Amino acid sequence: MNSDHNSSSLGLTRRQFAQALGLAGAFGLVETQTIIRALAESKRNLAYLANRTAGAEGSWELKKIEGKMPKALNGALIRTAPGQKEIFGVKLRHLFDGDAFLSRYTFREGRVSLTARFLDTPQRLEELSLKRMLYTEAGTLAPPPPEGYKPKHGGKNQPSVNIIRWDGRFLGLSEGGHPTAIDAKTLGYQGEWDFYGTLPKDVPFTAHPKFDPQTGEGYAYGVQRGMSLALNIFRMERDGKLKKLYTLPQRNYFMIHDMLLAREHLIFVIPPVYFDFARMMRGERAAPFDLIKYSDKMPTRLLIVRKDGSGKPITVEQPAGMVFHNGNAFEQNGKLVIDSILSPDDSVMKSVASWGADQPAQASPNHLTRLAIDPASGSVVNRTELESEVEFPRFDERRIGADARYLYTVGWGKGAAGTDTLVKHDLRQGKSQRAQIGKARTYGEPVFAPHPGQNSEDRGWLLAQGYDGERDESFLEIRDAGTMEVEARVWTGQHFPLGFHGNFYAD
Ligand SMILES: [Fe+2]
Repeated sequence: MNSDHNSSSLGLTRRQFAQALGLAGAFGLVETQTIIRALAESKRNLAYLANRTAGAEGSWELKKIEGKMPKALNGALIRTAPGQKEIFGVKLRHLFDGDAFLSRYTFREGRVSLTARFLDTPQRLEELSLKRMLYTEAGTLAPPPPEGYKPKHGGKNQPSVNIIRWDGRFLGLSEGGHPTAIDAKTLGYQGEWDFYGTLPKDVPFTAHPKFDPQTGEGYAYGVQRGMSLALNIFRMERDGKLKKLYTLPQRNYFMIHDMLLAREHLIFVIPPVYFDFARMMRGERAAPFDLIKYSDKMPTRLLIVRKDGSGKPITVEQPAGMVFHNGNAFEQNGKLVIDSILSPDDSVMKSVASWGADQPAQASPNHLTRLAIDPASGSVVNRTELESEVEFPRFDERRIGADARYLYTVGWGKGAAGTDTLVKHDLRQGKSQRAQIGKARTYGEPVFAPHPGQNSEDRGWLLAQGYDGERDESFLEIRDAGTMEVEARVWTGQHFPLGFHGNFYAD
């Protein structure tokens, strides 16, 4: 934990890392290669292995490269992930559980370096010093603290979902609280961030703000807690402050994970997911995700507002379905066209909430769905399912709000034990191209990095972190976004959890 993360020297080995943490007995650090291989080959647990406790912290120059690194790719891919699946003997049972683990791949003139480390939040340091789990995670209750000991903080606010660069620093995003400011050089913890006092204390901040490529401004939201329950919608101004655009009162606390930004509108796809207030009022001890309920009797709502803050919101109802992520959105002939990954049920919620080596990994049904909405009549005039069993949609974000042609996702191949396919969707022609990586390998989210000086849409690279279960090793794949061919596969020599989201920032 005290290794110099700025150092370009080799990072800790797995054993040194385990010893430094005092966690040598923790599952995920001392698994033998045999167990790992057996789990990977069982085709049940590849997703579990790929997301289990990080195997190392440190900084490395990565030299084990298949293919050739593109020299024109210069910048950094920064990612965050839930970094462990056990805390001092307590198994974490939710995919979203675990302290934030950051990975930054830096590309310079054909060379790649990696810095990977846990974010040293005060809560994490307190648990490490006591060698004990003190704080409840998203889906796992903490055991009672030692007798006479009062934990120093109210709870954890894990910036393990997404990380963005904004206003000269990285902001780690949890969606359960304020962003966490992170030192752009060291990836060290700086503190909670309230945008110079403009984010109210009782309003958490989304993990998926969207950025207008024409103005450089961002758009974000959070559901205000307490008696005055309301959806707050903000513009992230270029001076680093927030300007509130809307306060929309709500009847129940609900979940919105992602939003869409068109040229003139913001769109929220809101699944029928709500918090079980009755259970909260009874004072039961429960982890936050234990209190989340899904109702197939309620509609999925599309909430549409103008991004200039004028006019009244429009709500359009659709059949019940779960949603985490959306693609792009644009206006066309008075209609709004949006792409969203919609599930017919809540099986994905159940799957992430029962995470463990003993749970089979399988694809949850979903459809990449294109909806054409008529705001004037408040109705969906067209709904087309484009593809099935895909997730983590990304695209060329210079085209946010435009009729972009391509969208990239990860998909489940037939009978796969994890997301083993990168999919390039041609939204104009209604076709998709799939690139598979073979057995015992799985992919995380594909991030699009544009080729410098080039504006044509698929001129750039897909940067996808992956995991090889047979080697128990993480890799980063760099594919030509035009052809989908691998340009370079960079091996890390370690295992890092795949996690959810990250972003590429050019030099
Ligand atoms: Fe997400």
